[in-house]
Amino acid sequence: MLRLCTLADIPDQDAKGFRTPLGEVIVVRRGVEVYCYLNSCPHIGIGLNFQPDVFMDLSQRYLLCANHGALFRIEDGYCVRGPCSGQSLKKMTLSVENGIIWLNT
Ligand code: FES
Repeated sequence: MLRLCTLADIPDQDAKGFRTPLGEVIVVRRGVEVYCYLNSCPHIGIGLNFQPDVFMDLSQRYLLCANHGALFRIEDGYCVRGPCSGQSLKKMTLSVENGIIWLNT
């Protein structure tokens, strides 16, 4: 397992990016729940964000691909709108222990 950060390091309803040996990943926080996806858009396989740690749409309900506007559900990475509609981000698994977020490798 790889230590990413603490839960408190990610503002609620926001996301952070991490470079890992498994590739760049996005960790999204909703309260005490966290979700993790590979930072690779299923549209053309490039990263979702233009700026560091900017992954959410304005409503903070979806992950946004800044390239062509695809929106992904936080809870399962499913694309609800955009050129890759119906496809999903690749889910990565996390463990949270004592407020520390670990990426399962
Ligand atoms: S690369 Fe993500 S929508 Fe095109």
